Amino acid sequence: MLGVVLDTAVDGIILIDARGIVSMFNPACEKLFGYTAVEVIGRNVKMLMPEPFRAEHDGYLSNYRDSGERKIIGIGREVTGRRKDGTTFPMHLSVGESIQPDGTVFVGVIHDLTEQKASARAIEESANRLRAVLDTAVDGVILIDSRGAISMFNPACEKLFGYAADEVIGQNVKVLMPEPYQSEHDGYLANYHNTGERKIIGIGREVTGRRKDGTTFPMDLSVGESKLGGQTSFVGVIRDLTERKRAAEQLVQAQKMEAVGQLSGGIAHDFNNLLTVILGNAEVLGDSLKARPDLETMVNSIMSAAERGGELTQRLLAFSRRQTLQPTNIDCNRLVGRMKELLRRTLRENISVRVETEEGLWSAFADAGQLDSALLNLSLNAQDAMPDGGSLTIATQNMTLDARYQMLHPEVPPGNYVMIAITDSGHGMTPEVKAKVFEPFFTTKEVGKGSGLGLSMVYGFVKQSNGHVSIYSEPGLGTTIRIYLPASGSASQSDLQQMESQAESMKGQESILVVEDDPFVRAYAVSSLIHLGYKVLAASDGREALGKLAEDIEIDMLFTDVVMPNGISGWELAHQAMQLRPAIKILLTSGYALETLEAHGRLQSGVAVLNKPYRRAQLTKRVRDILDGAPPAASQL
Ligand SMILES: Nc1ncnc2c1ncn2[C@@H]1O[C@H](COP(=O)(O)OP(=O)(O)OP(=O)(O)O)[C@@H](O)[C@H]1O
Ligand SMILES: [Mg+2]
Repeated sequence: MLGVVLDTAVDGIILIDARGIVSMFNPACEKLFGYTAVEVIGRNVKMLMPEPFRAEHDGYLSNYRDSGERKIIGIGREVTGRRKDGTTFPMHLSVGESIQPDGTVFVGVIHDLTEQKASARAIEESANRLRAVLDTAVDGVILIDSRGAISMFNPACEKLFGYAADEVIGQNVKVLMPEPYQSEHDGYLANYHNTGERKIIGIGREVTGRRKDGTTFPMDLSVGESKLGGQTSFVGVIRDLTERKRAAEQLVQAQKMEAVGQLSGGIAHDFNNLLTVILGNAEVLGDSLKARPDLETMVNSIMSAAERGGELTQRLLAFSRRQTLQPTNIDCNRLVGRMKELLRRTLRENISVRVETEEGLWSAFADAGQLDSALLNLSLNAQDAMPDGGSLTIATQNMTLDARYQMLHPEVPPGNYVMIAITDSGHGMTPEVKAKVFEPFFTTKEVGKGSGLGLSMVYGFVKQSNGHVSIYSEPGLGTTIRIYLPASGSASQSDLQQMESQAESMKGQESILVVEDDPFVRAYAVSSLIHLGYKVLAASDGREALGKLAEDIEIDMLFTDVVMPNGISGWELAHQAMQLRPAIKILLTSGYALETLEAHGRLQSGVAVLNKPYRRAQLTKRVRDILDGAPPAASQL
């Protein structure tokens, strides 16, 4: 019976005497060590041990005999076995002692640990791998138990929240939440345990995190649930959304400005047509009412109202970057010097005006007239911000904006710019106001006092000129608005082309083809030109006009609207007309000049533009100038 036990035991069983001589070696031992029982029995058990245990074994046995001190006997422990082929393996050895009449015998039971060790090593390796993942993860990873206590907090979490792991481990996860979530969290977890109702678990959503210093930040939190040994725990993965939110906000702001620009540009364009009709007809009416001073004043007030309307639409067009710009090389120091004289006369007396110019200032490439009105707008704003007086400084400076600046303002290409800064000592702007000032119609002035278009115009003009505006403002201290205009390589020329109005006889007999889709504007233009003695043909779109141009009739000039229906724009029409009749003179007119412009809002050379709404005097002079072949640059408004 005992023999059966020994033969079939899974563990090795070995018997030795007090000197270490093996007297029994069961089949499991044979398998473990690779020796047959015959090879081992009668020999010292040391042969089954690797060095240094082999050498130490005699000493160990005699020491036990003398002192009774045990290392393994009756205890059992992990040791190393040595196979016949010299290889070693981990094994658990427990040794029992039995006193027999012919001396002490020891019974060793040997359990192979090779597999157990391998699987322990595998577990450790995978734990290490997991740790490496957690330690290097960019996202925060946190583990909490079913009551919310934190049991793991990876380095990314430490960075995000400003806590070291050991400061929060064991604490409730609530410390990472701002109010009111902090107070609600227990209820939320309890509710989840009771009802299974999920708010975040398995879903993920945007929440607010709270750092050690009390500040908060937006984060994306996704939570997974796991059952570990019957215990529920939750794994949270946290991603910081601060940067992404900022970028998204900037994008929304840019899109908003773009959308508002489109809308206002469209309105201004159509409104310009209406104003052209109002202005034109009022003017004709005025001519025939010279004998009725009472009615003439009414006509005059219609005209001045229409002109004010025209100024408003002009600012809207400027904002939506659809005005006709005529950039030249500008000596900004000269322009600012002239502006100073104008401001001295215009601004209140309790405002002192100073100009600080940089020597060797580059020329700026922009529309000088628009720059004048931008600076005037900014100066008037400054005056409004200083009701009790103060100082206004206009400074110029060469600036090179580099790639670093572009990181802050992605829309600004690196390069050389001429910077004009307008600084006031006024009441400044709050961040909320500052965020909105460029939007059209945004004003803090009382109803009827401000249009809210001043800064919009400045913004649109500068952007259309491939420049950049920035605002620096401290509430209570003042404001600096900086305009960056692209520096031009070439030397400065005389900037503004002054139009001399020595109109003796502006009349003529040439024939003019008027193309305009709006019947009212067309009628006004046609009658104005006929009035001046011209022969006039009219067409309501590009197709009809091309038909006329192809006929064998005299046409000296094409006067066309730019934005027209049915596929052919005024710009294309002008191109085709020049091909059909190389000598033809061309005058474009538009509420906005988008389609007449090259990519960056610069005029194509050789083409003149008359902005709507136009006065008859402007039309008269313009038509005459062009027919007389004045150089296009000089005849552009
Ligand atoms: N220099 C400044 N200091 C303080 N606030 C300013 C300054 N410039 C502009 N603002 C603020 O920006 C708002 C918008 O300015 P914007 O020039 O566009 O319109 P407005 O001045 O209100 O109207 P308008 O130009 O038609 O008179 C102002 O109402 C004001 O609140
Ligand atoms: Mg203003």
